[in-house]
Amino acid sequence: MENKTSYKEALDNRIFEIISQAAAQLNLESYVIGGYVRDFLLKRNFKKDIDIVAVGSGIELAKQVSALLPNKPKVQVFKNYGTAMLRYEESKGEFIDIEFVGARKESYRSESRNPFVESGTLEDDQNRRDFTINALALSLNKDNYGELVDPFNGVSDLHKGIIRTPLKPDITYSDDPLRMMRAIRFATQLNFTIEEESLKAITKNKERIKIISGERIVDELNKILLSTTPSIGFILMEKTGLLDIIIPELTALKGVEEVEGQTHKDNFYHTLEVVDNIVPNTEDVWLRWAALLHDIGKAPTKKFSKKHGWTFHGHEFLGGKMVKKLFERLHMPLNHKMKYVAKMVMLSSRPIVLAQDIVTDSAVRRLIFDAGEDVDDLMTLCSADITTKNPQKFKKYHNNFNIVRQKIVEVEERDHVRNFQPPISGEEIMEIFNLKPSREIGVLKEAIKEAILEGEIPNEYQAAHDFMMSKAKKMGLITK
Ligand code: CTP
Repeated sequence: MENKTSYKEALDNRIFEIISQAAAQLNLESYVIGGYVRDFLLKRNFKKDIDIVAVGSGIELAKQVSALLPNKPKVQVFKNYGTAMLRYEESKGEFIDIEFVGARKESYRSESRNPFVESGTLEDDQNRRDFTINALALSLNKDNYGELVDPFNGVSDLHKGIIRTPLKPDITYSDDPLRMMRAIRFATQLNFTIEEESLKAITKNKERIKIISGERIVDELNKILLSTTPSIGFILMEKTGLLDIIIPELTALKGVEEVEGQTHKDNFYHTLEVVDNIVPNTEDVWLRWAALLHDIGKAPTKKFSKKHGWTFHGHEFLGGKMVKKLFERLHMPLNHKMKYVAKMVMLSSRPIVLAQDIVTDSAVRRLIFDAGEDVDDLMTLCSADITTKNPQKFKKYHNNFNIVRQKIVEVEERDHVRNFQPPISGEEIMEIFNLKPSREIGVLKEAIKEAILEGEIPNEYQAAHDFMMSKAKKMGLITK
């Protein structure tokens, strides 16, 4: 049974009237469909893009809409997909992207190479969309303006919190395997349940994810990572077998082994806890990537010995190296973002070691020196890494962390090592000792840096100069 509810308030924007008018002029039906309608009904943060489906040519409709708008915005046409887009200036400097598509019988595979798309009715089009909650349409037609067209009970699924496909899940997912990731992403963002048949179909079709580009998979992973509780998505990816294909480094962390009565923690679930513990910054997904990958070196470095029990020696260093390979494989950026994640992974155990011990100034100075600008992020990551269920330990580590945080501020104020610039440059050393580029210069620079980090001298020119002169004397660079 179709739901005849009307949602005129969702169309409280002049652009909808204009689209309606343009469609009437072309004598075709038009509807708002997809995410805009879904998010309106969920009262979710209002989307800044709108999808319009025309029963007829979406491209013609877009051109007609542009002609009715005062500034006649440019219409971008994607012939292969039969779609067109224009950017509508809602108010000064505020833009909405509007995408127009003709109703079709074929699926919404965004990488379909087939330029020929058979046109269809609204219902054909809704059938070929990914989920019932994304197939909801609002009429822009004069006779039933604002009426909801919901042939698959999408509204009921929205209320119950269910991700369901309009057609048999096998068809929907093989039409576009990216939808397996989308199902998990929506389940994570909205805290919805994926309906049983869908979950089975994803498990069955998991291998098909291999035909989807890394960039599109990463878009979904980023949306999962920016959700309030990313673990929901990673657990679903693990259960369906997708994670083993996309990021096997993570599934390798699963499980608890026991030798001679000694066990180690399950580093997969620990990792997910750490990721959840980091409050997402919607602008910046990279700290959550660092949390996700901070322990990936643990699977390949795991060892058991009678003397030391379970160890993961050097896992941070190896993990840092693994980050680059993983980014390459998933076609992620290999710029400073990758370097940042690798650095976080490499340094991820440092503050913990500090927090377990007495916090000395020189250890803090070294931490600031190595982490530089990112020392605060590193502290956030490491606080999130404290997942012990022992309340005493939990308290102790957090207390020590607060001491480390305080010391970071004090030490940095005094010594300025965050963006360490050697107080004496290599050129100056060459000039003072009349040296050509040589090993000695490096030795002197390193000695000055070490003396500052160890707290033997302050990070100041005169002190560094005096220290260098005495060091140079010992090295036989000066005789008097
Ligand atoms: N769609 C689909 N299959 C896909 C991608 C999209 O059926 N693989 C359809 C859905 O109806 C979806 C609409 O196209 O609602 C628009 O897609 P998109 O803009 O990618 O997603 P939204 O649903 O708008 O949500 P979000 O912006 O959160 O991605």
